Amino acid sequence: MDTLIIKDINNKTMQTAGEIIRGGGVVAFPTETVYGLGASAYDDAAVKKIYEAKGRPSDNPLIVHVADVCDVETVAREIPENAKKILESFAPGPFTIILKKKDGISDTVTAGLDTVGIRIPSHPVAREFIRACGVPIAAPSANLSGKPSPTRAEHVIHDMLGRIDAIICGGDASVGVESTIIDLTADVPTILRPGGITLEELKKVCTNVEVDRHVLEAVAAAEQPKCPGMKYKHYAPDADVTVVEGELSACEKKIKELVKREKEGGKTVGVLAAADADFGADLFISSGKDNREFARVLFDALRSFDENGIQTVLVQLSSNDEYSLAVKNRLYKSAGNKIIFV
Ligand code: TXA
Ligand code: MG
Repeated sequence: MDTLIIKDINNKTMQTAGEIIRGGGVVAFPTETVYGLGASAYDDAAVKKIYEAKGRPSDNPLIVHVADVCDVETVAREIPENAKKILESFAPGPFTIILKKKDGISDTVTAGLDTVGIRIPSHPVAREFIRACGVPIAAPSANLSGKPSPTRAEHVIHDMLGRIDAIICGGDASVGVESTIIDLTADVPTILRPGGITLEELKKVCTNVEVDRHVLEAVAAAEQPKCPGMKYKHYAPDADVTVVEGELSACEKKIKELVKREKEGGKTVGVLAAADADFGADLFISSGKDNREFARVLFDALRSFDENGIQTVLVQLSSNDEYSLAVKNRLYKSAGNKIIFV
């Protein structure tokens, strides 16, 4: 399949993208979190193409994207008080609310669940694109299933060229990790996936907020997590990732040891850490000054290690702030829970 690459964002190109969607096609588009892979949430056959293009298991539901708060009621059966508060405080922005779904949203989108994830991205191109489509847009992250999510147009082109109808190029994602998913179908709002809106921010708006234990714990074989995506391998580059977590100097010491050992074993080694403490790695990438910056560079770094033929990646996790939970959640999963606490 020929994939149309849209680099100029204007009324005409957005109308073209909208026509592709209304014609049952699949279009990748930028958001402030990661790039999405969109199709009409009303079109079962189009949504199936998303699962095919990604190689995604069919029991893992998709998030439905709308351009404005007033469109939420076209997707959700009811909007509880907590949802109203969260929408008022943070929309448009990097969060997704899980609500009871309305009829008309394809069962393929929700993987047969009675609930639906709804997101209003703040990225101006995402909103322009959704408006041009004129329908709610079902969209997962625009990566091949299991791989790190795409934060740059180049990542989407790498994974999706020839597999989908069009890619809208809209620069680098400013948040860099996916939206915070908040389940609002029970009395206490529960974070199923940490992201761009933090637990601390949510607590200012809703008195009681919980974090699902699977955000940091691995899902056991027999368990059915609340967020179906949690049970699958995620964010994993080809390289073997290990997280080294703890106080800064202890982490640095441990990583130096591991780099030496891996290199002696004939492996090419990459390090992702706050500052290069002469690790002796083949490729060093800085994770930045805090976890907000870490989140922004994380997926791009994991992809860069693969592009440079790195076989072993060691990641330092030392600082704690509001964004730690999102960074940890992604890293634990990309490392398949191989974590060394020092
Ligand atoms: O930032 C984001 O949320 C990005 C951009 C493109 O908007 N999208 C995204 O979608 O990350 P995806 O499909 O890669 O991740 C969605 C996660 C999956 O783990 C899925 O299982 C979960 O959301 N999910 C979707 N609908 C759900 C529902 N009704 N109940 C519980 N979890 C749900
Ligand atoms: Mg994803």
